Amino acid sequence: MNFIVLTIFPEMFNPFWEHGIIRRAVNQEKISVSAIDVRDFAEDKHHITDDRPYGGGCGMIMKPEPLAGAIRAAEKKAPLSKKILLTPQGRRFDQSVAQEFASLDGLILVCGRYEGVDERICHDFIDDEISIGDYILTGGELAAMVIIDAATRLIPGVLGGKDSAEKDSFSDSVLEHAHYTRPRIFEDVEVPSVLLSGNHKEIEKWRLETSLIRTFLKRRDLLENRPLSSQEIEILKKWCLDIEKIIHDQSLFGPDALSGGQQEG
Ligand code: ADE
Repeated sequence: MNFIVLTIFPEMFNPFWEHGIIRRAVNQEKISVSAIDVRDFAEDKHHITDDRPYGGGCGMIMKPEPLAGAIRAAEKKAPLSKKILLTPQGRRFDQSVAQEFASLDGLILVCGRYEGVDERICHDFIDDEISIGDYILTGGELAAMVIIDAATRLIPGVLGGKDSAEKDSFSDSVLEHAHYTRPRIFEDVEVPSVLLSGNHKEIEKWRLETSLIRTFLKRRDLLENRPLSSQEIEILKKWCLDIEKIIHDQSLFGPDALSGGQQEG
């Protein structure tokens, strides 16, 4: 997959693609990466890429000519690529968009700066607008890195373990189960014994259960928006019974038991 970033700060990307999985994916030719300096396409001798907004108002707008020149140069290098504008007004980036992008031939990622980009660029040169969340960054560069990072690790063969990406949080609309590594006891807290048991069926069951528990506690919306498997329904039903039993047993201690025994007045 081919990533081309259009930016006025191309140097920001060197440390990004010179480290970790991204670097390895480049070395293994799973991805190719490059940054085009939008300033190189400015038409004046000072290489100006921004200007005041028509109609007045504060802030500066990215001029259309340098961006158009940079996009055309990127298209020449990678004609099959999808052209994305990074903007807080875009479609929200998530794991399913990452998956969608990972299957493409390439992305041309246009990083806006200042107050925004001349509307004629958005309208005539861009295929899709993407936001990485409801907050305003000083530019699209970090958003471009987020997208490259999330899409690259989903490209087959990029991650080491054969199923590392398949078991990710969100890949099945649930959060990933809890993880432990050595030492077995850390600051008096022990690794759950089932993980040391060698019983793979029990370990899988425990993982599914911790995955469901943390999704329920941290991101209930994910469970509400997805059909449950029969095994998941069994687990949830068992919790209901366990909770009902706790409430029932507590009520045997008297009417105040459930309020912690606190009396009014
Ligand atoms: N540029 C500024 N803020 C952004 C955001 N939240 N997502 C994508 N690009 C941006």
